[in-house]
Amino acid sequence: MTENKNAILTAQDVVVEFDVRDRVLTAIRGVSLELIEGEVLALVGESGSGKSVLTKTFTGMLEDNGRVASGKIFYRGEELTALRGHKDWQKIRGAKIATIFQDPMTSLNPIVTIGKQITEVIVKHQGVSAKEAKELAIDYMDKVDIPEAKKRFDEYPFQYSGGMRQRIVIAIALACRPDVLICDEPTTALDVTIQAQILDLLKALQQEYNFTTIFITHDLGVVASIADKVAVMYAGDIIECGTVEDIFYDPRHPYTWSLLSSLPQLADENGDLYSIPGTPLSLYTPVIGDAFAPRSEFAMQIDFEESAPVFHVNNTHWAKTWLLHPEAPAVDKPHAIQDLHAKIAAKMAVEEIK
Ligand SMILES: Nc1ncnc2c1ncn2[C@@H]1O[C@H](COP(=O)(O)OP(=O)(O)OP(=O)(O)O)[C@@H](O)[C@H]1O
Ligand SMILES: [Mg+2]
Repeated sequence: MTENKNAILTAQDVVVEFDVRDRVLTAIRGVSLELIEGEVLALVGESGSGKSVLTKTFTGMLEDNGRVASGKIFYRGEELTALRGHKDWQKIRGAKIATIFQDPMTSLNPIVTIGKQITEVIVKHQGVSAKEAKELAIDYMDKVDIPEAKKRFDEYPFQYSGGMRQRIVIAIALACRPDVLICDEPTTALDVTIQAQILDLLKALQQEYNFTTIFITHDLGVVASIADKVAVMYAGDIIECGTVEDIFYDPRHPYTWSLLSSLPQLADENGDLYSIPGTPLSLYTPVIGDAFAPRSEFAMQIDFEESAPVFHVNNTHWAKTWLLHPEAPAVDKPHAIQDLHAKIAAKMAVEEIK
């Protein structure tokens, strides 16, 4: 990967390990990533691929049994992997890089009123008086569409619905005025209609504040509507990265092909969806070759022996697959994801008629 001077957050060969009883689990296996100022990067991949663990390293939030075992992470030139204590991290976490988690209650204190929780953050991050902070807090509540914000200021989290609680978490993140916003499946725990509303809110705020955003999701459908770039994770590594167009219409890694084949928009008339065969490999043993090879019908001998380097498809698009080696045989991507654009458009048209 080439160094980009507009990069705001950079990961270089990051390895994360966890101690689990007397064994070591390697959750992240040498990830390199560059986040460019103002862009929205979607991080996708199946459960356990390391999306949350990777982003926790950006805010020093790994659990006590985990560590960045090697590699470096930089935020605007400052080496985050050199930070040690809680105090160092406080200057970054929330203040520069804020996270919105799936479950709003991981971020809210159940026994403190909503208003007080937002006010405290404003006083801390914006250095204003308590009185000014209260007014600002109500403004932020309005901003995230809490009805009758003034009245609800003194209520407790349990008096709010799940969707409303997530709005408050977003308001708190805004009040920190971060540079980078990490959204870790922020809508997964909510009803479908509420999901769409929260997503619209995040999109609107992203446009207004121009946050650099990492958006973690299982839902590739969401990706197309929110992201500029997509990074696909498999078994602790980013195996393909590109613009939304690169990934949806010219995907190159067989794992990305599988992931796209399981898009709900591609279900057949009976609603049956493609599901990826096999199970992800154990993270306790070293990976030899391409981690996806045992599950891939496109695997070649070399995929079981040596891991593929980064092969560039164009300036914005790369993948770690031997299929991109100049001497690899030409293979067609699966039939299901050919003409993806037309298929998704056709499906949407049918749904509109219904
Ligand atoms: N504290 C921990 N101790 C041991 N293993 C951990 C710990 N935290 C995460 N892991 C493991 O690291 C791997 C990556 O987990 P991670 O939570 O990043 O997955 P994910 O891609 O976010 O999945 P999901 O989509 O389900 O949220 C998993 O195998 C998980 O079990
Ligand atoms: Mg996760």
